[in-house]
Amino acid sequence: MIPTFIKKKNVRTAMYIKHTKSVLFAGIMALLIPASTLHAQSAKTLTVKANEIKGTVQPTMWGVFFEDINMGADGGIYAELIKNRSFEFFKPMMGWKVLGKPLTEGDFLVMNRQKLDTANPRYLRITLHNNSKGNIGLNNEGFRGMGIKKDLGYDFSVMYRQIAPGVKMHVELVNEKGENIGGAAVSTTGTGEEWKKVSAAFTATASSFKASLNIWFEGDGAVDLDMVSLFPKDTWKNRAGGMRADMIQMLADMKPGFIRFPGGCIVEGFDLSQRYQWKKTIGPVEQRQLVINRWNFEFAHRPSPDYFQTFGLGFFEYFQLAEDIGAEPLPILNAGMACQFNSAELVPIDQIDPYVQDALDLIEFANGDSITHWGKVRAKLGHPLSFNMKMMGVGNENWGPQYVERLKIFTKAIKEKYPDIKLVNSSGTDPNGERFDYLNRELRNMNADLIDEHYYRRPEWFLANAGRYDNYPRNGSKIFAGEYAAQSDKIVSINNKNNWQTAIAEAAFMTGMERNADVVSMASYAPLFAHVDGWQWTPDMIWVDNLQTYGTPNYYVQKLFSLNKGTNVVPLLENNKPLAGQDSLYASAIIDRTTNDLILKIVNASAKTQEKNIQVDGVKTLDANVRLTILKGEELSDVNSLSQPDKVTPKEQKVTLKG
Ligand code: AHR
Repeated sequence: MIPTFIKKKNVRTAMYIKHTKSVLFAGIMALLIPASTLHAQSAKTLTVKANEIKGTVQPTMWGVFFEDINMGADGGIYAELIKNRSFEFFKPMMGWKVLGKPLTEGDFLVMNRQKLDTANPRYLRITLHNNSKGNIGLNNEGFRGMGIKKDLGYDFSVMYRQIAPGVKMHVELVNEKGENIGGAAVSTTGTGEEWKKVSAAFTATASSFKASLNIWFEGDGAVDLDMVSLFPKDTWKNRAGGMRADMIQMLADMKPGFIRFPGGCIVEGFDLSQRYQWKKTIGPVEQRQLVINRWNFEFAHRPSPDYFQTFGLGFFEYFQLAEDIGAEPLPILNAGMACQFNSAELVPIDQIDPYVQDALDLIEFANGDSITHWGKVRAKLGHPLSFNMKMMGVGNENWGPQYVERLKIFTKAIKEKYPDIKLVNSSGTDPNGERFDYLNRELRNMNADLIDEHYYRRPEWFLANAGRYDNYPRNGSKIFAGEYAAQSDKIVSINNKNNWQTAIAEAAFMTGMERNADVVSMASYAPLFAHVDGWQWTPDMIWVDNLQTYGTPNYYVQKLFSLNKGTNVVPLLENNKPLAGQDSLYASAIIDRTTNDLILKIVNASAKTQEKNIQVDGVKTLDANVRLTILKGEELSDVNSLSQPDKVTPKEQKVTLKG
C-alpha cells in the first residue's frame, strides 16, 4: 500500500531510454530505484509515454472544500474566542455565567431592541448598587474553552453604553484551575444612548488549552454590553478580528487550486430562512445577522446546541482567503431550495428573482469595477481590485426536476450578463442511482460547465471505481468532484476514521481522476476541518483542538497530489492499459511543462511487495537525479493524532539513476 511520487527532472531534454529504471516495491511500503539493479528480470514493465500528451491538468485540479461544520468557522478558523458574543443564540446566555451574587432581581437583563436593530437585537444590561467591589461579573467559556498562548497579546473589545455612569470593568483570562493568566482594565466613558466600542490589549502570562474569560464589574450604575470579543494577536496575516493562523497555514501549505465555500448543506439551510445569504455576511460584524447552524441539530447522536453561524467569517473574508493562499474562489449559492434531507422547502418560481439577483450581485461584488454598486461595497471593505472570480456554484446536493427548473433560470440570467463565468451544477448526493442518472442526463443536455459529483463511500468503492472516468464523454460538461472521502465504516457513522486504508483508497482513485484530467477539472476532499471536542461529522481532513492542528493521512495524500500537480497527462501503461487496479496497483503520470519534470504517482493497495520496471519512452535524456516521496502506513488502521501527528507523513529521498 504505497502512493509513491517519483519526480524526474528534464524530461524534454532527455533521450529515449529503455528499461532505465527498475522499481521495486519492497515490503509493503518502500519504493526503491536502485541504480545497480536496473531492471528486475521477472517484473512486468510499466511504460510511460512521456511525449504523448493526453490532456491538460487544470491549475484548479486539486482544491479544498470549506464548510462551517465540526466547528470549522466559529470555534475554528475564525479566531474569535468568545462564544455567543452578542447574546443572539437561541438561549441568550448560552456560554455565559453570572459570577458572584447580584444584589437584586434584574441586575442582569437580556434586552431586545428588535425594531431598531433587526440584525443584532439583543444586548445585556448590568446594574450595580451599593458600590459593588468587583466581585460581580460574567464568565464566557469560549468554544470548548479558549486556547491561550503564554506571552501572546490578546485584544479584548466590547460595545457599550452607560445608562447610569459609575461602572468600572476589568477583564481577566483564567486557566482550567481558575488562576489568572492575564487581563486588563477596560475604561468606559460618557453616558447616553449612543453605543461605543472600547478595547483593551493584554499579554497572557501562561498557556492554557481551556481557559475562559471573566469580566468583573465594580461601582454603581448601569451599563449595556454587546459584541463582547477576544482575539489573539497572532491571526493569519496579523489581521485584527482575523483567522487562526495555524489552521490556515495547513491550507496554504497544500497550495490548493481553488477553495469552495461556504459549503455544503449550510448553503441550503434546514429551511429557506436558515439558508446562507452572502449579503448578510459582509460589512461591520455587529450587523451580520447570525443564524442557527444546521449542524447544531442535524445528528441526534452528535447534538451541538451551541453551534451558530455568526458570520464573523463572511464572503469578503472568504474571497480574501482565496487570494491569500493563491486559490481560485468558488462560492456556492442557494438555488431557491432548502436542504432536501430537511424541510425541502422551495421558493416558488414566481418569487425566485431575489435569489437570482443575489447571484448576479455576487459576481459584481467579486469582480465589478468600484464604480458599480457592489464593486464599490467591496472597495469600501478594503479591496478596490477585482477578486477575479471565474466560477460559481448554483445549488449544493440538490436533485429532481425542481432543481433543474430553478437552475435553468439562474443559468440563463447569469450567462446572459456574465457569459465567462463558469457554473458548477449539482448532480445530487450520490455518484450513481436514479437521481444521479436523471441529473447527469439533464445537466449534460443543458451543456453544464461543471457537474459536481459527491462520493462518500467505503474504501473498496474507491478502489473499484478508480477507472470511473476512463469512459466518460470527452466532450461537453467537465467534472468537479466537489466532495469525497472514503468512509472506514459508513456515511455519517461516528466510527469513521481517517485511517491509512481510507487514504490509500482515495490516492488510488485520484490517480484515475488525474489520468482523466481532460474530464475532471477539479476535486476536493470533504469535510475539511474538525475540532476534536466539537465535531458532528467524521472523517475530516484536518483535526484541531484549541491550540494545535494535525493532518490526517488523507491530508497528506491531498497535499502530495496538489504539490505535484504538473501540467499535462501522459500515458502510463502496462500491457497497453492504464494501471487501474491490476495487481492492486494504480498509477498516473504527468509532466510539468514549466519545470520539465516527469511525475509518476504509484499506489500499491495490496499488502504484498511488488516489482515493476518503468520504461520511459519519448524523451531524449533523463536527469539522473530522482526525487522519491513515499507515504506509507504499517497497518490499514494507522491514524495520525494530536499525540502522534506524524505517524503517516510523506518521507522524501533522493535517488540517482545510472544513465
Ligand atoms: O461534507 C459534509 C456534508 O456532506 C456536506 O455539507 C454535504 O454537501 C454533504 O452531504
